[in-house]
Amino acid sequence: MPSPSRGPVWGQVHLSRRTYQAWAATVASLAKTPRSLLKPRSELSDLELTAAVIKEHRSDLVQLWETFTTERADVSRYLMDPKRESLVYLLGFHLSNQARAQGVMQRLAARTSLFTYLSQAQAPIHLIDLGCGTGALSLTAVEELKQLAPEAPLSVELVDKSQPFLEAATHGLKAWLGDEALTTRRQKLDEYFQREAAQGARDGLTWYQLGYVWNEIAHQAKTTQLLLKYLDAGLKKGKRLITLIEPATQDLARAAMELRDELVERGYRVLYPCPHQEACPMLERSRDWCYSEFAWERPPLSKVVDKILKVERHRLGASAYIFASPDLVEAMAALDPVAATRPQAVVVGRPLDPSDRRRQPTFEYLLCTPGGLVKEKPGEGPELLRGQTTEKPAPRKKSIDTAPGKVSTVRSASAESLPFIRPPVVKKVAPLSRPPSDKKKRKPKRGS
Ligand SMILES: C[S@@+](CC[C@H](N)C(=O)[O-])C[C@H]1O[C@@H](n2cnc3c(N)ncnc32)[C@H](O)[C@@H]1O
Repeated sequence: MPSPSRGPVWGQVHLSRRTYQAWAATVASLAKTPRSLLKPRSELSDLELTAAVIKEHRSDLVQLWETFTTERADVSRYLMDPKRESLVYLLGFHLSNQARAQGVMQRLAARTSLFTYLSQAQAPIHLIDLGCGTGALSLTAVEELKQLAPEAPLSVELVDKSQPFLEAATHGLKAWLGDEALTTRRQKLDEYFQREAAQGARDGLTWYQLGYVWNEIAHQAKTTQLLLKYLDAGLKKGKRLITLIEPATQDLARAAMELRDELVERGYRVLYPCPHQEACPMLERSRDWCYSEFAWERPPLSKVVDKILKVERHRLGASAYIFASPDLVEAMAALDPVAATRPQAVVVGRPLDPSDRRRQPTFEYLLCTPGGLVKEKPGEGPELLRGQTTEKPAPRKKSIDTAPGKVSTVRSASAESLPFIRPPVVKKVAPLSRPPSDKKKRKPKRGS
């Protein structure tokens, strides 16, 4: 869905030079020497070599992009050459996935005390990257954790059915971790879950990474059931975190929203992006869906890839969620009770104003709040993207927000938008119409 743009945005993602160079080093370690090189390979930097590799794989990049954007159902049959597939994924998708993961963490750090808790954690932290691909999610989490707590014991387990993907992820992670902290498992996920079930849940803090894999396994009933059982077991022992990132398209984002509801139903707490633990109200709106947007300051070679793909990924979309086990949420709340109870309003949509008939109509923010969905007119200051917050002065009754003609007051003052505090905007809220065919009953309210 195209987003109306109004200039600068708050909270742009900027990958570090180290991340960029580590990516090029992985490309250089995996790629064959491109035919078009004008100099001997040994005289080129990793970034120069990567530029030549990108050029050589132009058509593969386009093919993989089309597979992911228009033919996702066929994704498992892509290319048929696992080595080439992992290299092309690394070239075209790895950095943007790191940017998405970093964007989520930036927002999480502004909203919760998770990273304060993690920086003080005495116990080892174990990351499990399920369907790791090139390891974008675990790499981003490791980079973050290493900066927060350089001495904290940290280990990573990479699981993927594809050996070349495991090799790419291992290369990247070795820049941050010693051999003994890294385990790779070339295994199908259902086999992995069965193996883990036999071993029993592990103690300590475990952070599961699920990046763009749910849509690949969602049609495999056995694998998804085993995954849910595996995540359930994590609620019974040890503290748990889950990162879930999926495409932002309507069908896959809605599948992620359903998974979000399922995990909350099973006992997980959603830390990002939702401001409450109730059933997702966006699921009731059949033609709408929730996803996050991030502004990304692309590094030079990502711009080259975008040119080949004929896209501009300075705006990234993703269905992105972070979940935590209740014991972890309690531990975080003990550190910062204010952050734990701060009411939030999260941008979940930016519908165009239907009364504005100009060529570039103005838009409103559709906000998800603890009391329901509300609309707000944008005020002064930078544009807010989906997934960013404004802050509500106080929790309100559910009926206020969506009832026809009621008045809603929204004040922007969250940690994410703090420098741009503006006066309250008062607006009459139009009824949020629901198609008659979509009268799904809301689930009973869960404890927040
Ligand atoms: C689209 S990639 C995502 C990679 C990475 N998680 C990311 O976010 O960039 C999906 C990965 O999941 C792996 N995968 C898909 N189904 C799997 C299964 N049933 N068992 C193990 N790995 C699987 C694929 O080999 C691939 O590396």
